[in-house]
Amino acid sequence: MPRPYVITISSEKGGVGKTTLATNLAVYLKAMNTDLPVTLLSFDNHFTVDRMFRLSAARTEPHVGHLFRGINPAELIRKGEYGVQTIPSCQNLSLFNPQAPPDEQLAEILSGVDMEGILIIDTCPILDPYTRNALYAADRVIVPIKDAPSLENCQHLANFFRDHGISHSPLRLLPCLIDTRIRYTGPFRNSYQLLKAYAINRGYRCLEGYIAKSPKVESLVTNPEGKVYPILTHGRATEVHLQFSHLARQAYLEFLEKGPNRMAEVSAGQRSREKCLRQRKHERQQRLHGQCLCCGREIDQNQQQKGFYAETSGREICGFIEEDCFYEMIFNDLYGEQRSGSSRTVRELFRETAQRSYFSFQRQAGGKITQARLDQNGESLSQRTTSIRATRGFLRRDATLLHSLLEQALPESEPKRLLLIRQNTGPTEHILTEAPYARFQTVFSRARLDLDAPEEAPDATPTNLVFP
Ligand SMILES: Nc1ncnc2c1ncn2[C@@H]1O[C@H](COP(=O)(O)OP(=O)(O)OP(=O)(O)O)[C@@H](O)[C@H]1O
Ligand SMILES: [Mg+2]
Repeated sequence: MPRPYVITISSEKGGVGKTTLATNLAVYLKAMNTDLPVTLLSFDNHFTVDRMFRLSAARTEPHVGHLFRGINPAELIRKGEYGVQTIPSCQNLSLFNPQAPPDEQLAEILSGVDMEGILIIDTCPILDPYTRNALYAADRVIVPIKDAPSLENCQHLANFFRDHGISHSPLRLLPCLIDTRIRYTGPFRNSYQLLKAYAINRGYRCLEGYIAKSPKVESLVTNPEGKVYPILTHGRATEVHLQFSHLARQAYLEFLEKGPNRMAEVSAGQRSREKCLRQRKHERQQRLHGQCLCCGREIDQNQQQKGFYAETSGREICGFIEEDCFYEMIFNDLYGEQRSGSSRTVRELFRETAQRSYFSFQRQAGGKITQARLDQNGESLSQRTTSIRATRGFLRRDATLLHSLLEQALPESEPKRLLLIRQNTGPTEHILTEAPYARFQTVFSRARLDLDAPEEAPDATPTNLVFP
């Protein structure tokens, strides 16, 4: 499947020439090989890309924001001027997609679609989620630097690669907006040489050459027609034209030599991650107790049934509790509802809050148990300590659901063990998938800390069912 070779233009410094570079590079690359599909998109909201390439009747919707909503890029790409294809820009990406995309999303989308040629991505001057996506997906990142501060900012880009555990080898710096009239005495005769020396000294790699500051380039953006013209068509007599030709040649040769390597890497990474996730889920499934931890009935793993997942702190016991068993245990065994005659409303309210809660249990000295209700972040909402001996039957058949659970999960011989229970809303195994299970573990670590110092509550068998 053909995949795109991605060139991202990025710098955390504003006005260093990113958009000028992205748009003109697209035009030069296309001119170099008219059969090569060149696609350009911008995560910035200046609409320069749109003004420069839009064919008169082109629509502005759908746009780059739709990429992150599962729309196939092929449906977003428009034919544009100079043979360059574009995806329309979006006025406000964070408003359009209130939930920021994870850094890997664009790469995963692009690695799964049939897309040929070179994709150039223009970014905004902050390391926002869209810039991060463009960096993560890039085969080559060109960083325009025009002065010492813009060079210092490159550190953040290098850190981005380091934090993701990927090599920063795609990074290439390119001195831009260089005023060639400025001359220095000493070994570095102009700002181009000086910037390049600084960059190399800091361990960065640079592209060959630079892009000079040219009044002609400025006039191509600001003119009475309100258009944005390419240097290739309207500035051929300038030195910047030669510089862009040289730059495009380097980019094209790299594309020919290396090809869309990043997309292949991302696909391979994705496959191995999926394999690893499947393996981890399988291990969790293998640990599962086959029967309801309260009543002992078989649990059908393949059936969609509402229930509660329970796990002990050392994963000695992992399994499900049938929904009815859980409520019966709470109302009858723990709160003594039959005696107190708690109202139906309280029961319904409890069921409703249970969907958003976690429940922790831990034995205490003197035959007591501390039970806490926690919110989704593991913050304790209520906590109470009750006696378990009071309701214990002498014969096995008299054992309550609570006792069956405690005997298995929190035996007296393991006083430090903690049991956490969470309602499982999807299919039986839903909670064992990566994200819900990771949330469960986060709450677990929090609950463990809190229950280390249990509250000394007056006990005995409660007469009223109380929970906030
Ligand atoms: N080589 C050049 N010579 C002269 N002016 C240039 C050159 N390159 C860019 N400019 C001008 O500098 C200004 C900023 O350029 P550009 O918009 O490309 O930068 P940018 O990094 O994309 O900015 P932003 O961070 O705001 O998106 C524009 O007015 C542009 O016309
Ligand atoms: Mg820009």
